[in-house]
Amino acid sequence: MRTTLSQFLIEQQRKEGVIPPELRLLIEIVARACKVIAHNVNKGAISGTLGSLGTENVQGEVQKKLDVIANEILIQTNEWGGHLAALASEEMEAIHPIPNRYPKGEYLLVYDPIDGSSNIDVNGCVGTIFSVLKAPADSTGREMQEKDFLQAGSRQVAAGYTIYGPQTLLILTVGTGVYVFALDRELGSWIMVEEKLTIPEDTNEFSINMSNQRHWHAPVAKYIDECLAGREGPRGRDFNMRWCASMVADVHRILTRGGIFMYPADRREKVKSGKLRLMYEANPMAFIIEQAGGVATDGTNRILEIAPVGLHQRTGVVLGSRNEVERVRDLHRELV
Ligand code: AHG
Ligand code: MN
Ligand code: MN
Ligand code: MN
Repeated sequence: MRTTLSQFLIEQQRKEGVIPPELRLLIEIVARACKVIAHNVNKGAISGTLGSLGTENVQGEVQKKLDVIANEILIQTNEWGGHLAALASEEMEAIHPIPNRYPKGEYLLVYDPIDGSSNIDVNGCVGTIFSVLKAPADSTGREMQEKDFLQAGSRQVAAGYTIYGPQTLLILTVGTGVYVFALDRELGSWIMVEEKLTIPEDTNEFSINMSNQRHWHAPVAKYIDECLAGREGPRGRDFNMRWCASMVADVHRILTRGGIFMYPADRREKVKSGKLRLMYEANPMAFIIEQAGGVATDGTNRILEIAPVGLHQRTGVVLGSRNEVERVRDLHRELV
């Protein structure tokens, strides 16, 4: 019999002693919420979940119906569970403390309810990204505040993402490697399909939105020029390119077969600190990538060491196969 998510989590608790029961149950609830989100994503036009709402989120992005539906599903499934002190999301400006009618726990959940929203209406890949932190010790007994969430990514106790693609997969780390579970719809269970994923150190594949080329800073421009020069260029080999416009889909490909993913900060005012959000996109993905033996930086610095100053703060992201991410880091050191 194959291992289910529940069995895996119980084993992690028993054998490795890495997760307390409260964290195990919290992850189970997040995974259950993702099943409900998967159902809504799959129904699409049949249940009227496609299209935009016309409202804007705190980052000034037009919200899709599914952004808001998935955000609500994650709140409703998690707030009664008893293991959280508060939660926060891309789609909410302020943190969401657990209401007084529910028991409170000692964890904080931060998430991107639907990543790759622009893919929703074209039946492309989307996902959900989440990160779990411990509430600071000095927060016990008082109302949670945004500052309680502002912990470096290295403090995450669990992180994961789901990908609603041809298969619905859950990718999870609790700091003991990266595990992949597939949703078996007949059983209603998450079934382990891969364990201890590792990312190859070398790759011939990069992932970047090339339409932003004219805005890039010199190190990124040089790196991509070198890749494009192919066999005749300084890298001495040909590179391929992929861009799904969904971080989960691009990162998942890299976890599966290697590659480098880049959404760098660039010259545009809006993107001067990057586009992707540190707390609920870059940090959980960086934790997963490092657990698989890859490297995750903002171009220069390790993402997991960035000290956050705001819940929705952005960062440049360069992650994936070690030798390529290090090449980009070297170019930043040489050219800045
Ligand atoms: P979200 O849909 O959660 O706002 O995130 C979208 C992000 C990320 O998934 C993707 O890599 C990137 O935005 C795509 O941006 P471009 O449309 O600029 O390529
Ligand atoms: Mn968005
Ligand atoms: Mn996103
Ligand atoms: Mn999103």
